[in-house]
Amino acid sequence: MSLTWLLPVSILFLAGFSEEIKQSRVVNIGAILSFGTTNGRVAKIAMNAAVQDVNSDSRILGGNKLVLSIHDSNYSGFLGIIGALQYMETDTVAIIGPQTSVMAHVISHLANELHVLLLSFTALDPSITPLQYPYFIQTAPTDLYQMTAIADIIYYFGYREVIAIFTDDDKSRNGITILGDKLAERHGKISYKATIPPEPASMHDQVMEELCKIRMMESRVIVGNTCTKTGFMVFNVARNLGMTDKGYVWIATNWLSAAMDATQILTDTANSIQGVLTLRLHTPDSKIWMIANAVKLFLDHGDIISFSNYSGLNVLDGTTLNLDALSIFDGGQMLLKNILQTSNWPY
Ligand SMILES: *[C@@H]1O[C@H](CO)[C@@H](O)[C@H](O)[C@H]1NC(C)=O
Ligand SMILES: *[C@@H]1O[C@H](CO)[C@@H](O)[C@H](O)[C@H]1NC(C)=O
Repeated sequence: MSLTWLLPVSILFLAGFSEEIKQSRVVNIGAILSFGTTNGRVAKIAMNAAVQDVNSDSRILGGNKLVLSIHDSNYSGFLGIIGALQYMETDTVAIIGPQTSVMAHVISHLANELHVLLLSFTALDPSITPLQYPYFIQTAPTDLYQMTAIADIIYYFGYREVIAIFTDDDKSRNGITILGDKLAERHGKISYKATIPPEPASMHDQVMEELCKIRMMESRVIVGNTCTKTGFMVFNVARNLGMTDKGYVWIATNWLSAAMDATQILTDTANSIQGVLTLRLHTPDSKIWMIANAVKLFLDHGDIISFSNYSGLNVLDGTTLNLDALSIFDGGQMLLKNILQTSNWPY
């Protein structure tokens, strides 16, 4: 992001500022990722590099230092929530993540209450609205954009009815709901929805059963909004059933382009996905300094980073949960305002 306020700070201002904060202070930010995912691996490297860049340029945060801690949620919603709680006990001003919609829904409640900013860079489902969760900021386009594009493609080619195959989780399901809405706006519709359970154990049988059903149906346009494993299984089974031959149109959401970018595609799988149309999110080149710049604005304005004990848990008197250490970020509202002022917002 080329930010217009990234100007050299005037010496006079800095002098006045250093009166208030004598020693360099630490600005804690956290991240919640699954290190095992491609996204998680790449993001970890990028975030550490960004923090290093910010800290090595004293024009940005003066004598203050960003300190980033990264929590491995290891694909577990539970560990993600615990990680968020830990950050909220350790005076953290912003958390990057989480990567999944399910976790985002839960952690947004914490962010709302404790005024800690939550910034997710993963394309999540758009059901987490700014009205409901003002402290949750999606920095990547939601599935609303992708589904609109798919509906446009379908409309352009004159198809009226499509079949949707999706994983039975919040993100995939909500994405397909949006696709249905977008198709309806173009006088089209989803004629059949095939749900695949997220558990691999029963997945193969379910995929086979659903595809056999779909083979009997009239529509030959199929949209797959799944996770990677399920998606590849769908294509492998479809190929065996002769459903990737001429006459079928397959559209895969960005799980496929992401998988192709990140992993080596096996020959067998490569054969199954010949002719499939997939979409990739457009990410303009930008510096990932959004938090640093918002913190800079915050400090330049003379605001002090401080936290107060959270008193909202008094109603839980007598419980054994040790949540006394949760604190509210006093400047949360101001930092949120600064983030929302980010210029060149890509979406
Ligand atoms: C992640 O979870 C799996 C089981 O769910 C476990 O086997 C593995 O050791 C965990 N990895 C880490 C790094 O904690
Ligand atoms: C805030 O909570 C901590 C315990 O987590 C306690 O030590 C401290 O005295 C509390 N501060 C105020 C002002 O109540």
